[in-house]
Order: sequence, then structure tokens, then C-alpha cells
Amino acid sequence: MSGQDRDPVAVAEAALETVAAVAPDVRDGLPGRRRYLEGENPSGEEVLAADVYADDLLEEALSDVDGVGTYASEERESAVDAGGGGVSVAVDPLDGSSNLKSNNPMGTVVAAYDGDLPASGRDLVGAGFVLYGPVTTMVAGVGAPGDATIREYLVTDDGEREPLDRVDLPDDPTVYGFGGRVPDWPDDFAAYVDEVEEELKLRYGGAMIADVSQVLSYGGVFAYPALESAPDGKLRLQFEGNPVAYLVEGAGGRSSDGDRSLLDVPATGIHQRVPVHVGNAELIERLESALS
Ligand code: F6P
Ligand code: MN
Repeated sequence: MSGQDRDPVAVAEAALETVAAVAPDVRDGLPGRRRYLEGENPSGEEVLAADVYADDLLEEALSDVDGVGTYASEERESAVDAGGGGVSVAVDPLDGSSNLKSNNPMGTVVAAYDGDLPASGRDLVGAGFVLYGPVTTMVAGVGAPGDATIREYLVTDDGEREPLDRVDLPDDPTVYGFGGRVPDWPDDFAAYVDEVEEELKLRYGGAMIADVSQVLSYGGVFAYPALESAPDGKLRLQFEGNPVAYLVEGAGGRSSDGDRSLLDVPATGIHQRVPVHVGNAELIERLESALS
């Protein structure tokens, strides 16, 4: 059987195992790579030596996975041909890398799509993230959106995954975290924040993956909303919005671009941006009402 004929879900599982296997090397490479390089990534952001290092490690390892036909990353203008066909992996090698200077948590995000990029979130066959916190963990699931069981793993120093608990959003949400400068928030979003602030407590760290992990652990809502200066927000659909939506929805929550599930947002480009809101269903429903 050639790689292209391999079951896409099995390819996604192998890709997630590969990301876990590389995670200790990514982590070990951070201390000496806290400096910025010349130039910007395709989204116009500053690039750290650690971003490039993680991207290179992941490209090499994931391109080698049988059945992965394409590797795309936030750090590269165009996707890399890894044999074509089969499953495409879209990776944010070091999410929240501006946290490296202040030594706060960061992550690696991976989305596995059954098809070419850019792809719809409905084509996901698996997604996950590694969180480089006090402990290295992975949260991941495989299968079609809605079929996936989301689980947390401990990632050992050898890059093995030790299964921990199934991830289910707590019914009683307690935290919120919203990106962007407050004066840049549109009035309707700001009015929603006023409501949420009455009920939840602020927990925001500036790395999407760490902030989403707080929502998965304690219940609540994370958003990087549309801004007055950036109507599509900051986060990218292929690398960030879709995988996070897949995981939060799989854990019993909801995602939205303000109007519909992120998984239903039409894909128009690899680096396309999208407003991201994820969390407990009731909080996302109220958000959609506030923005309508
Ligand atoms: O990947 C983009 C990112 O680093 C996210 O992890 C995070 O949510 C966001 O940018 C924070 O951006 P800013 O500090 O510009 O609000
Ligand atoms: Mn990111």
C-alpha cells in the first residue's frame, strides 16, 4: 500500500505521535534561541531563532510520515511538497513565541487535513497541540470533527505519549482571556466583554495555546476577536483557528468566527486570518448574539 492510500485517520495519529516525539528536541533547543532574526514571517511577525529551529525539525519529521503529502507552516510562504496527495499537515511550530523572552508558556499546534491546502476545518482528520508549560503535555484527537475523543497526554523526555484523562469542558466556566488592545475592540465585542467580566475571572497569558488550555481545564472563553484595525483578527485559520475549534468542539464546547463554527469558514488561503472565539457553548452563543 502506498502512503497516499493509507487511512487518513491513521496518518493523523502518526503525525501527532511524531509531533510528540519531536517536542523534547524543540524544548531543549529553546534556551539558546531567544534572539530575533532579520526579516518577518508570511504574516508580518518578527521571527525568533527558535521559530525557525522548531519549523525545521517538524518539517523534517512530519514529511517523513507515511501518508503525509504536504507540510505547511506559519513560518513558510508556501507549502512544502512531501510527496503530494494524502494528508496535509498545517503546523504552527511555536505558538506564542513572543513568550520566550519573558519565559512564559508556548505551544506547537498541528492540524491534519484529508486533502490539499487551504482546506476546510470539516476536512480535519486530527488535530493537537503540545504545551511547553511546567510539564510538557499534548492535547489531541483524531477522526472527523464531532467523532473525535479529545485526550490529554504527558509527553515524556523520550517523546513518548502517556495518556492522561479525556478532555471535557467543565460545565461551570470560570475563566476568560481576550487578545488585542482594548481600544481596538469593536463596540459590540466590548459590550460582550462587559457582561463576561461580571461572571468570570481574567486569565490571559498571550500564547493562544496556553490560553486555550486554561479554557479546556477550567471552562470559559478565549478569543482573539476582530479588531477595528484588523477586521479578520490576528490568528490564522489553517494553523490555529481550525485545530483549536476541532479540539474545543470535540471537548464539548463551541467555536465561532462571530457568526458560525470556525470549521465552516470557507478556506481561501494558507495564511488567511480569522476572528477566533472558543469556549463553553453558552458563552459562544451569547457572543454570537452580541455580534449579530
Ligand atoms: O500566534 C500568534 C500569537 O502569538 C498567539 O499565540 C496569541 O494568542 C497572540 O499571537 C498574541 O498576540 P498579541 O500579543 O499581539 O496580542
Ligand atoms: Mn500562533
